[in-house]
Amino acid sequence: MTHSYIPYLDLKPLNDRFKKQDLAVFEQIHDSGRFIGGDWVKGFEDRFAEYCEASYCIGTGNGLDALTIILKSEVALGNLPKDAKILVPAHTYIATFLSIIHAGLKPIPIDVEELILTASVLEKTTISYDAIVVVDIYGKLVEDEVYAFAKANNINIYCDTAQSHGATNNSGIKSGNIARASAFSFYPTKNLGAIGDAGAITTNVLELANMCRKIANYGRESRFLNDVLGVNSRLDPLQAGFLMNRLPLLDSDNDRRNEIANSYYKNLKNEKVRLLDTDFLSNNAMHVFPVYVENRRVF
Ligand SMILES: Cc1ncc(COP(=O)(O)O)c(C=O)c1O
Repeated sequence: MTHSYIPYLDLKPLNDRFKKQDLAVFEQIHDSGRFIGGDWVKGFEDRFAEYCEASYCIGTGNGLDALTIILKSEVALGNLPKDAKILVPAHTYIATFLSIIHAGLKPIPIDVEELILTASVLEKTTISYDAIVVVDIYGKLVEDEVYAFAKANNINIYCDTAQSHGATNNSGIKSGNIARASAFSFYPTKNLGAIGDAGAITTNVLELANMCRKIANYGRESRFLNDVLGVNSRLDPLQAGFLMNRLPLLDSDNDRRNEIANSYYKNLKNEKVRLLDTDFLSNNAMHVFPVYVENRRVF
């Protein structure tokens, strides 16, 4: 049997829109002689925090590190026990699990009912855990009731926002400003994608922001004082500049993704394909349009 494939995502035309501006960033950074940190990184962190309406943004090397650093920081601050059990939806990308393991913690997978973790699943579980990492999978924000459940039970939630840049919840709160801390990936295929690896943490908690910044930068507070076990995971200035070029178009790109998703709902008619409930369309950055198919997918 032969199959014809529609390419998953053609990055070339998307990135061609920024080629001229990207070359200008490259030239400026090349000429500046400053290749770690600096104005481009600070500028993007400030702009992205403002965009997410969060108080702080800390650039990292990628999304996996962003989530790992959040969890390591909470342990360093004494907000999570060293052997904390972290509830995590079984349906996610492997990075969510790896971040918990790399932080020395124990992932406790929980099955979801319709792709994403819901309060009704949490209410039913009898497993014990210390905190939850939720995932805005496919761009769909985790429902407000999950956060309300955690709040009522005095449990912290960290969000893997790798796929939900720009989504807004029912109360008008942006992705990156909902959980105690959020971890973004700017992997090239993301809604806001760099042209290499890049990531960021957003939070409104000052002591957590400070610890994340420290751990991401060799555990160092000042030049010669490294007093926590750190890593080297800093946002590259070139990627920060490329992301600055792309951020102004994120909302209109997300609108276009939503238009396309709506048209799939109207026009996709195939008895072997089941669409998610149209509720899936709300509070969603529409990173991916998932469908259920009758048989396994063919590679
Ligand atoms: C849900 C999810 N979490 C985490 C990551 C990790 O991001 P990165 O590849 O930037 O490390 C990704 C993307 O790759 C992702 O889709």
